[in-house]
Amino acid sequence: MACFVTFITLYSFLIFSASLNTISGAFVEEFSEAMAIKREEKTTHLHFFFHDTISGNHPSAVRIAGPTESTFVNFGNTMMIDDALTEGPEPTSKLVGRAQGFYSMAAQDDLALLMVMNFAFVEDKYNGSSISMLGRNPVLNDVREMPIVGGSGLFRNSRGYALAHTNWMDPNTGDAIVEYDVYVSNFQVDAGLATA
Ligand SMILES: *[C@@H]1O[C@H](CO)[C@@H](O)[C@H](O)[C@H]1NC(C)=O
Repeated sequence: MACFVTFITLYSFLIFSASLNTISGAFVEEFSEAMAIKREEKTTHLHFFFHDTISGNHPSAVRIAGPTESTFVNFGNTMMIDDALTEGPEPTSKLVGRAQGFYSMAAQDDLALLMVMNFAFVEDKYNGSSISMLGRNPVLNDVREMPIVGGSGLFRNSRGYALAHTNWMDPNTGDAIVEYDVYVSNFQVDAGLATA
């Protein structure tokens, strides 16, 4: 798979458990049992393009709140989105998922968005899994970093970050194609690797 790469890191931990003291007269015997477990940290690198279309008859982003007489860049302006995520930058490129949620103009003197959305994937084994992003997006910066605060399915208990870079933008309509590099990690305890 070209756009989803997984790395596994193995950690070993010694967990001490079951400490037991026996007192017999002046002597104390202490027994403690050590158990080794292994934990896997899985990091997945996701790379895709986000297509945000405001213009035309079938926009993927619609304005749901904000001041009246608002333009796209007014403070408070809020867009609900269901944007395609594709493997390559072309709109016809293979669909790997959808970005569903909203973004709002959250700065008065700056172009910074509050991004609240889920990336729901349909690609191969990731079909049905999702990650949730919540972050600040100063859209004029070359690269914007936003936190990944959780996930579901294969991304259950995930944490990570997204790096967004605008690939193309129409300044008249606000339509944009944004390249995303996302790194998410989660831990899995592998009981099968445990040794006594
Ligand atoms: C993803 O899963 C859904 C529901 O199980 C299924 O209908 C769909 O065909 C799958 N999509 C892909 C691309 O495998």
